[in-house]
Amino acid sequence: MTDRHDLPAGFRWGVSTAAYQIEGAADEDGRGRSVWDAFCERPGAVKNGDSGRTACDHYHRWREDVELMRELGLDGYRFSIAWPRVQPTGRGPANTAGLDFYDRLVDGLLAAGITPLPTLFHWDLPQALEDTGGWLRRDTAHRFAEYAALAADRLGDRVPAWITLNEPFVHLVYGYALGIHAPGRALLLDALPAAHHQLLAHGLAAAELRARGLDVLIANNLTPVRPASDAPADRAAAAAYDALHNRLFTDPLLLGRYPDLSAYGVGPDLHGAVRDGDLALISAPALAGLGVNYYNPTRIAAPAGPGLPFAEAPIDGVPRTHFDWPVVPEGLHELLLTLRERYGAALPPVTVTENGCSTDDTLDDTFRTDYLAAHLDALARATADGIDVRGYYTWSLLDNFEWAEGYSQRFGLVHVDFATQRRTPKASFAWYRDLIAAHRAASAAPRPAGGR
Ligand code: BGC
Repeated sequence: MTDRHDLPAGFRWGVSTAAYQIEGAADEDGRGRSVWDAFCERPGAVKNGDSGRTACDHYHRWREDVELMRELGLDGYRFSIAWPRVQPTGRGPANTAGLDFYDRLVDGLLAAGITPLPTLFHWDLPQALEDTGGWLRRDTAHRFAEYAALAADRLGDRVPAWITLNEPFVHLVYGYALGIHAPGRALLLDALPAAHHQLLAHGLAAAELRARGLDVLIANNLTPVRPASDAPADRAAAAAYDALHNRLFTDPLLLGRYPDLSAYGVGPDLHGAVRDGDLALISAPALAGLGVNYYNPTRIAAPAGPGLPFAEAPIDGVPRTHFDWPVVPEGLHELLLTLRERYGAALPPVTVTENGCSTDDTLDDTFRTDYLAAHLDALARATADGIDVRGYYTWSLLDNFEWAEGYSQRFGLVHVDFATQRRTPKASFAWYRDLIAAHRAASAAPRPAGGR
């Protein structure tokens, strides 16, 4: 049976983090205010009134964190660059002191034999841009391209591949449609221009990155959508949800068009946001890779009444994470096969840029080890089925600031005591380290005849 030990030679092992979730140092070296700084100050917005002001203090402790990554034997580290450190107000010249931090980090990673994989936007928009409309405003896409160029000019000599955006779907829905995340706007379907402007930002930034000879990826949150039953109404509802969650960001990138959103009463211009030439820019030229963030599948039924054209149905009979998310490793295999079926030759190589789970506060995190092992087994089955998967970056290296959940959800291979900032590797850390070492040794060894 195919399992994680069969992942191809050269497969890249990594961990993923994001700036606001780990860095802290909110006021240091000229960093500007981000939408998350503002959101965390709203009473009741974040559990326990938590914020990322200090988080894991990674800004000061990054050497220790790189050392942990070296111990893991990682090939790559996916982190995000805080836009407000680079451009405190989201426009204008670079703040050199802010870029210096990433410069030091990149050098530290390279010295540890780890390839840096930065994400340019993991939800921390400079508040000054939000004040002029944020992602609802087309100009923000142009500002993003400017910022991408500044970051690439400083780091592009050592950083070969870049991720433009993290999970534009989640940012759209949580940040602009439901108001659960920063910037806390609850516009429902009126939020859709924020989808287009994020994609436009990707396209404009991709052009800047490619002009500098750099590879471009984007990371999205994708989910296999399962209808609650075979009934036509449930199937139609599932298709409508799939269009929103999976196709809204992937179809324009890979096919150069928006999916059918007529179930939402929305036309192909997304409330007038789309202009001539935008889709050509968003879809061309080809992405070097598609980042897939996978956590769980989604089960969808027909809605009970008017409103949205779908209703979420529970997934029963499976283990659940501390976050209460269902654990369905097979969903990753299913998702990747669906992507190939849907996009065929237009599907670029895939990298799993996030996958992981929150567990309760314990160092013996067998639950996490089991979760990771099962998902990597599913990933190996996808590669055996011919999907070109280049790597796996688990979420996350450290327990960190889990957005609206504050510090109550722990996703780390490494436990963080937030009172002392003490890092303690959990059992899953040793397990991941040993898996990486075993895979690397097996990849280097000559394959026995007839063996795998
Ligand atoms: C995000 C991360 C987040 C993780 C767990 C993803 O949606 O990219 O920032 O911490 O899931 O919720």
